[in-house]
Amino acid sequence: MCGIVGYTGSKAAGEILIDGLKKLEYRGYDSAGLAMQAEHKLIINKAAGSVADLEKRIEGQFDHITVGIGHTRWATHGKPTDINAHPHCSCCEEFALVHNGIIENHQSLRNWLTEKGNHSFTSETDTEVLAHLVEEYYNGDLLAAVRQAVARVEGSYALVVITAHEPGRIVCARQDSPLVVGMGENENFIASDIPALLAYTRKIKVLEDGEFASVSAAEINIFDAHGNGIDKEMLEVSWDIEAAEKGGYDHFMLKEIMEQPAAVRETMRQRINFADKKVDLSEIELSYEEIAALEKIHIVACGTAYHAGLVGKTVLEKLTALPVEVDVASEFRYRDPLLGKNDLVIVISQSGETADTLAALRLARKQGLKVLAITNVVGSSVSREADLVLYTWAGPEIAVASTKAYLTQLVALYLLAVHFGTARGVLGENSITSLVEGLTTLPGHLAAILREEKTGKLRSYCEHLAKWDNAFFVGRNLDFPVAMEGALKLKEISYIHAEAYAAGELKHGPLALIVEGVPVIALVTQKSVIEKTLSNIQEVNARGGAVFAITSEGFDVVDDQVESVFHLPPVEEILAPVLSAVPTQLIAYYTALIRGSSIDKPRNLAKSVTVE
Ligand code: AGP
Repeated sequence: MCGIVGYTGSKAAGEILIDGLKKLEYRGYDSAGLAMQAEHKLIINKAAGSVADLEKRIEGQFDHITVGIGHTRWATHGKPTDINAHPHCSCCEEFALVHNGIIENHQSLRNWLTEKGNHSFTSETDTEVLAHLVEEYYNGDLLAAVRQAVARVEGSYALVVITAHEPGRIVCARQDSPLVVGMGENENFIASDIPALLAYTRKIKVLEDGEFASVSAAEINIFDAHGNGIDKEMLEVSWDIEAAEKGGYDHFMLKEIMEQPAAVRETMRQRINFADKKVDLSEIELSYEEIAALEKIHIVACGTAYHAGLVGKTVLEKLTALPVEVDVASEFRYRDPLLGKNDLVIVISQSGETADTLAALRLARKQGLKVLAITNVVGSSVSREADLVLYTWAGPEIAVASTKAYLTQLVALYLLAVHFGTARGVLGENSITSLVEGLTTLPGHLAAILREEKTGKLRSYCEHLAKWDNAFFVGRNLDFPVAMEGALKLKEISYIHAEAYAAGELKHGPLALIVEGVPVIALVTQKSVIEKTLSNIQEVNARGGAVFAITSEGFDVVDDQVESVFHLPPVEEILAPVLSAVPTQLIAYYTALIRGSSIDKPRNLAKSVTVE
């Protein structure tokens, strides 16, 4: 869960590395460092703190140096201190490396190296053993030493190494953590993630697990685990660099909330035939016969993606008549799930790199099941290992709190449900037409919600909410997973303890916590349960709770029962979760803003969770 960059060419490496690290701070931001290759020696600069601090420290000092590697860290082994920051070096500082991942057998390797008597360790990190291993095995060829070193390792790594002995050369290795090489003109780049490279090149090669790269300004050579050269395809990245920047907003999160109409439209584009009012998911290579033969669906994901899966369960069950189970990925593999041979596993992951989700995917494939991935990142581990992929086209999501990725995950699940429901003969012509028409209205409705929020209605409720340390989100049926997602978002960025309850559960315990003024956000978009939800709202009112309702246009009966209300444009109630999520995102955003918390990079969290 760290950001990695590397550069070899003829320009000032420091500037390019710092720029790349700034684009990757969402992967980790508790410390940052650079190792630069000067003549016959390495210069290391690293400390706890941000990339901006590092930039200030090195400013103007190393403009003559044209080769280097950099790292921004999210601590796993060892506290975020100067010493634990990457790069890590061998004893003699002739080898330096940056690493993302976990070395599971680091302690036994450390003991082995210490017993040899010629290695002493300075940090508490698992990574440092790699630097000593490379030093131990070095015999004039850095690639050979790295290959020997990682052969001793159990765990995951994206590893980038330089040595004072081989000017201009950078060696990389990848296992279970992402790594790409970018091609330039007489210069080449390395990064854990594509946004770090976009300012310099759009031509990339994605390293696969078990592969190594030897990179100089003139060439990129890629090898498999046995040392055989690999002729790897070059990909052209089409992302707009602007899309990876804040684009005028104060925070990436707000920018990403505002991008949702476009992200949703983009995710549907080319998958909806607007003339025929049909969904076309022929990109998923599953025949109608295979879809008809399915007996069950298992959805597995983490955090926000898990909440998307909960909405997906109700939608898929309704539209395909298939039973659907939803699991948190970190629990899935430890509960020995019963997977039938005609079942389909759907994993959902924005980053496509979440370790638990990837493990669930591997477990399902090992048992012979087909896995369909819904992900936002082309070339991610999940997308490469799944049998089938349905991309969300949300563009890069930088804020740790997921917003546009979530909405596009929902849309992908709706498209899938209509496609499967059609293939299985569950949906008639009329239902398909009305669902497709409903989906088509979503981008316009989302834009209307984002205009409506400018009236300040949400912000004035947030002034109240921001004064509390506890809040509740309630809803029934499809409103319940939206409540869960709303509570997660509020917790994540405002640090208010927020709980979501199925509204009917309030009286089974949590009602004890409702006293004068306690904020309760109620989702009321499901007509079939509106009376029931209103009764639950009255239970809160009777104890003095301050209810803010998010409801659909035409549900006027809600207005008189609550302190304030936000109306959503009218939409078929099965599609309401795509709209109702947006006010909850804005509630979290404005409340965090009022409380002055770090919105794009909340404490203790990182964007991509590549450790278990
Ligand atoms: C969302 O706001 C969170 N930061 C988090 O729950 C996230 O959704 C989760 O870690 C899963 O990430 P993924 O979609 O990249 O797999």
